Amino acid sequence: MSSVDLKIIAVVLATIGAFTLVANVIPQVESDVPPDIAFGADVSPEELVEVGEQLYQGAGGCLACHAESPGARGPNIITDYRGQGPIGVRCADRVPGLDCKEYLYQALVRPGDHVVDDYPLIMPPTDRTLTQPQIWAIVAYLQSLGGEVTVTGADIPDEDEAEVETDPALASTDPVELIQVHCLRCHVYEGEGIDIGRPLDDIGAHRSADELRRAILDPPSVVAEGYEDVVGLMPLDFGRQLNAEQLEALVAYLSTRR
Ligand code: HEC
Ligand code: HEC
Repeated sequence: MSSVDLKIIAVVLATIGAFTLVANVIPQVESDVPPDIAFGADVSPEELVEVGEQLYQGAGGCLACHAESPGARGPNIITDYRGQGPIGVRCADRVPGLDCKEYLYQALVRPGDHVVDDYPLIMPPTDRTLTQPQIWAIVAYLQSLGGEVTVTGADIPDEDEAEVETDPALASTDPVELIQVHCLRCHVYEGEGIDIGRPLDDIGAHRSADELRRAILDPPSVVAEGYEDVVGLMPLDFGRQLNAEQLEALVAYLSTRR
């Protein structure tokens, strides 16, 4: 075997090793994964509301921003928002032409479409981490807070259908596309995006590939001076949102930005 062959084999083994390492890191967040659920066509409103409440209060991750305290990062949707009542009361009046159910579904899967006044666009689209049945259960729960639950089994698509709807960019391994899909909500890159975390244009000058990987998988472990106040905003589940190949492509690319 020539030394070139051996080098190629060594690179392949190192790459597999790196992916295995990353794959082994990922299960750390597994305990947060929302339970997979399926509903029959005849699911009752009560059943939907119960599951939705569990997701909202727990594995859905909503309370990270929608706590009821005044300093919360997102609006209070459970008890009262500026004297207008809980979300089930005001959902139908939020956007002309959208009824309560339509508004809530859009608010969950395309948060950028109708941003609530005075709030930054930091809410992650929930269809990155939740299935369609889970999202519809949350919609039912939110409707139940002061309003009538109109979600039925007919709203909930089959898993197969739901997959067709997901953004093809989510499967991409092109680092720039991954930044556009996942990072611009909170980081500026090439003049686009929102300036909450440190801009990514020259991040490679500040952070090694190892630090970048850690910053993406476990954000609180890598914090730049001056950003202490916003720790906790970056999603903790990129280990699940990105597969190992996407993660490594992103890390390799960002480490060259300087
Ligand atoms: C990273 C923070 C964050 C997380 C996590 C988050 N949200 Fe939000 N959410 C916001 C912010 C900020 C707003 C207001 C700006 C906007 O409309 O995008 C908002 C707006 C909303 C609205 C519209 C409220 C209105 O008054 O019209 C709903 C409904 C909502 N979120 C539900 C949820 C649910 C359900 C979850 C969990 C599955 C969730 N959010 C997770 C930050 C977050
Ligand atoms: C919802 C907001 C949000 C999203 C989405 C987000 N980040 Fe962050 N990120 C932050 C905040 C806030 C900080 C600063 C606090 C911290 O380090 O945890 C940060 C910190 C970082 C750091 C560490 C910077 C340093 O030098 O200290 C890196 C690297 C990073 N983010 C990369 C990314 C990448 C890559 C993506 C997309 C895959 C991404 N972030 C998506 C909010 C976000």
